Amino acid sequence: MSAQLPIRRLGTSGLEVSAIGLGCMGLSFGYGPETSKEDAIKLLCKAFELGVTFFDTAEAYGPFANEALLGEALAPFRDQVVIATKFGFKNGKTDLGLDSSPQNIRNVTEAALKRLKTDRIDLLYQHRVDPVVPIEDVAGTVKELIKEGKVKYFGMSEAGVESIRRAHVVQPVTVLQSEYSLWWREPEKEVFPTLEELGIGFVPFSPLGRGFLTGTINANTKFDPTDFRNIVPRFNEENRKANQIVVEKLREFAKKKQVTPAQIALAWVLAQKPWIVPIPGTTKIHRLEENLKAAQIILTKADLQEIEDVFSTIEVQGARYPQHLQQRVGK
Ligand SMILES: NC(=O)c1ccc[n+]([C@@H]2O[C@H](COP(=O)([O-])OP(=O)(O)OC[C@H]3O[C@@H](n4cnc5c(N)ncnc54)[C@H](OP(=O)(O)O)[C@@H]3O)[C@@H](O)[C@H]2O)c1
Repeated sequence: MSAQLPIRRLGTSGLEVSAIGLGCMGLSFGYGPETSKEDAIKLLCKAFELGVTFFDTAEAYGPFANEALLGEALAPFRDQVVIATKFGFKNGKTDLGLDSSPQNIRNVTEAALKRLKTDRIDLLYQHRVDPVVPIEDVAGTVKELIKEGKVKYFGMSEAGVESIRRAHVVQPVTVLQSEYSLWWREPEKEVFPTLEELGIGFVPFSPLGRGFLTGTINANTKFDPTDFRNIVPRFNEENRKANQIVVEKLREFAKKKQVTPAQIALAWVLAQKPWIVPIPGTTKIHRLEENLKAAQIILTKADLQEIEDVFSTIEVQGARYPQHLQQRVGK
């Protein structure tokens, strides 16, 4: 294990991972063309070499390609890492709608085990709450998979507090994964107190604001036609322009601390709770190195207060999801 990354405990279930994980989605899906297999494997191996022991994927990333990539890349050190994947869409395709039926959960688990070249999934998330399948049935199915040794821990993603509580009664939830960053702080209101009460860990996705908080995106940025950000209101040209103030403030603060905006964005997330483990995504080794150094940054109480004072006055423009996808979150 590299000295660079401390270990964190995700809630009270005993799951321990590197303080920063790696979000692997962008290697295959979401932000333009997929990375070549050779480069992607190099990046995943480098992450492990630098101390990352927590890798995030999903059936839907590709679909299937991202799990298969991780299966191949992580095989040499499989037993030293925690692999998290997700079920919950029809045929693994996000545009076909949700499917958390017990049969689909079982099918996806079996297929994911094969693609990941493993005999157990360390952390299995429901990707989105499915309104037509009682959450008790979902939790009950994962409970059976845990009994069968195919899954170790149960997670939920973008679930609301009522679903979390109901699921937790049937099968303890180890982790909630939802969007959280300096420009999306909604989980602090209801979700964090619930997680703290129930001993559930938190994994913020898009902790770099899908790249925006790094300062590399502005009103002139042109995304690849297949890039998801083309349909996100927060990323339309007008809102990118209006939201530059967020980046300006981050830059100013980062300069004082002699670090980068991306590193401040991650250090801030890490400073919120000891049971939080962000999973920034990147396809580039130099950015991976940059991002992981955030675990070494100590933000003092005064630093955090300064960030609070500045950012609480900024109103971020634009919804984080288009309307049809917004309906799927917080359920
Ligand atoms: N549960 C869910 O529904 C859900 C939803 C979204 C994401 N996720 C998970 O969360 C992970 C992370 O979220 P995310 O990828 O959406 O967003 P993110 O980590 O906030 O940002 C990723 C973007 O930032 C860029 N980037 C990363 N580090 C950078 C740096 N140091 N400087 C400049 N640019 C940088 C990346 O581009 P380059 O590749 O060019 O570096 C990429 O476009 C995903 O990989 C996925 O595993 C889960």
